[in-house]
Amino acid sequence: MSTPVVATTRDELSALLADARIGGRPVGLVPTMGALHEGHASLMQTARERVGGGPVVVSIFVNPLQFGAGEDLDRYPRTLEDDLKICEREGVDIVFAPGVEEVYPGGDPQVTVKPGPLGKVLEGKTRPGHFRGVLTVVAKLFGLVRPDVAVFGQKDYQQLALIRRMVLDLNMGVDVVGAETVREYDGLALSSRNRYLDDEQRQYATALSRTLRAAQEGAYYGADVALAAARAELRSADGVDLDYLVITDPALGVLPADVPPGTEARILIAARVGTTRLIDNMPLVLGSPVPPREGAS
Ligand code: PAF
Repeated sequence: MSTPVVATTRDELSALLADARIGGRPVGLVPTMGALHEGHASLMQTARERVGGGPVVVSIFVNPLQFGAGEDLDRYPRTLEDDLKICEREGVDIVFAPGVEEVYPGGDPQVTVKPGPLGKVLEGKTRPGHFRGVLTVVAKLFGLVRPDVAVFGQKDYQQLALIRRMVLDLNMGVDVVGAETVREYDGLALSSRNRYLDDEQRQYATALSRTLRAAQEGAYYGADVALAAARAELRSADGVDLDYLVITDPALGVLPADVPPGTEARILIAARVGTTRLIDNMPLVLGSPVPPREGAS
């Protein structure tokens, strides 16, 4: 286990990467906002599998551009010391932990990445501007690190879909890998925002994954039954204020009314527990008796 080298400026990062790139080894990037947990650790493991002996870079940056007014930018957990321990344990080579002025040297950027129609639904509807902020910072990180592979969690499923679309539309040439959601023993998806939950709310929050699992169990009978099963599960839950619960096709498009058995779909949920907004999603196979695994994609 060797301690990752920490770069806080773009110049330091590019000097470290110039050394690390010697021999043409592939570079892996795991973009994060810190407050790292085992879900992030699994992203780092996926990056390591993909790049072998090439450098793995983890960026830690709480990106103001993706937070709306009244959101949790100020209270978002900043835990750099603990984050570095996880990076060290996972054999990360370089941690890029810049300040805001290093990422946005000209202040608020005037040229940003517009997410298009997929950025206006689901999370984009409740959090206008969010995906513009996410795509802009990810594009900047891609420009600074020039990774061959970048790993993101499937838990932020819409974010993953939009990043893939940006890479396709803007010919960025980065292999975007979506890593499986890591869950607690009781199904709760790991999230940095789980830290906001008190014990009672933590218990309430398990309703999200129970709701999605109920849909997986109903999926054999089609999307309508799956959604009804999910809604029934949610009705019996306390402390959860639903934002949306939808079934879409795997690319987040509208699912046609009649689909053949074996059609893949996705169920997504967003809800508030206390003041904390949580999201989760799972794959569905309609007409299949076996719940699908949340494999890497
Ligand atoms: O998923 C996150 O942690 C953030 O949205 C990301 C991709 C690091 C961009 O700030």
